[in-house]
Amino acid sequence: MKKTILITGGAGFIGSHVVRLMVNKYPGYRILNLDALTYAGNLENLKDLEEKPNYAFVKADITDEKAIREVFEKHKPDGVIHLAAESHVDRSISDPLAFIRSNVVGTVNLLNAARNLWENDKEGKCFYHISTDEVYGSLGATGLFTEETAYDPRSPYSASKASSDHMVRAWHHTYNLPVVISNCSNNYGPNQFPEKLIPLAINNIKHKKDIPIYGKGENVRDWLFVEDHAAAIDLIFHKGRNGETYNIGGNNEWTNIDLIRKLCEVMDKALGREPGESVKLITFVKDRAGHDKRYAIDSGKLMTELDWKPSLQFEEGIEKTVDWYLKNEGWLENVLSGDYANYYSQQYDNR
Ligand code: NAD
Ligand code: DAU
Repeated sequence: MKKTILITGGAGFIGSHVVRLMVNKYPGYRILNLDALTYAGNLENLKDLEEKPNYAFVKADITDEKAIREVFEKHKPDGVIHLAAESHVDRSISDPLAFIRSNVVGTVNLLNAARNLWENDKEGKCFYHISTDEVYGSLGATGLFTEETAYDPRSPYSASKASSDHMVRAWHHTYNLPVVISNCSNNYGPNQFPEKLIPLAINNIKHKKDIPIYGKGENVRDWLFVEDHAAAIDLIFHKGRNGETYNIGGNNEWTNIDLIRKLCEVMDKALGREPGESVKLITFVKDRAGHDKRYAIDSGKLMTELDWKPSLQFEEGIEKTVDWYLKNEGWLENVLSGDYANYYSQQYDNR
């Protein structure tokens, strides 16, 4: 019997890289991608997999309890890798309830469905919840988040993710559900929706538009190439210990302003522009409400226990990313053509 692995949010940025890795690496698994195709979900991300015999897509919303129960009854997954979520902090500030629905209620629906299905046979089963370093709050100039750092979420997004992490642990302790959780730092790479800093800046530089930097650009993020996150997810899904949490990070901290200066340099080179041309587009705008100062991850547990390390240096990763966006203009134009123009003007005009 082939194993069936249900991946939620597989049409999104990170999910599409996880689906591709699992479909190609494990021909003996059936990979079922469940996604509601919100503004952030895009099946074009998975075009190359459509004909693969071990891949299938099901359109469903994780907030729909009945639909989720039926998917579990029909497909009987042996494992779940749960990525579906509302993922953008700025949107959570303007519409927090959408985040509570998908990230908290949606996660509980999946937990209940897995609990019912695996009630009498938990052998080889695993509910893997993909979470974020933002649950740990905000760091000062020094220190790193470890798996023991107390939760201190500060945005509606991070509070909803923290809440979903607590639900997953509660289902483990109360119902003995086999679970594993990972908390990762900022991802970058191909297929990221251009509401997030790096693809937004790439698109604006390309069109010689202002690059909006919140506040003074002094906030710090730890950036990891998305394929390295997908490789860590594969490892943790197969070898992570039941009930454990693993932090994943790039050991690659940048202030936003330095990151954008670096990106301008790479873009000038890639577009054949004069060095220093794009940096002139940098514009400081009103800060994000409650903007977390610094995130930084200690991935020591994952590195020692499961022998993971990032495969790419940032220089190479950012060049690959720029190259992908410049070669995939059609992808960018398609995702920009929907409601994004409205979102952009609401978020940035008069800021
Ligand atoms: P994304 O916004 O690009 O994709 C989210 C996907 O989930 C989309 O395909 C969307 O259609 C789907 N989705 C949203 N709500 C849904 C619902 N109610 N039912 C079914 N599908 C739904 O997000 P991403 O950046 O790829 O993040 C994926 C996961 O990884 C999220 O759980 C996020 O919290 C976590 N994470 C992201 C980062 C990052 O830097 N992007 C870092 C750490 C953790
Ligand atoms: O740390 C992991 C998290 O990283 C994930 O859980 C989230 O899903 C993901 O969106 C990301 O959150 P951030 O808020 O850190 O990512 P974002 O790309 O929105 O912003 C990165 C930094 O850049 C942050 O300090 C805010 C700043 N920023 C962002 C935008 C969109 C700007 O200065 N200008 C902008 O226009």
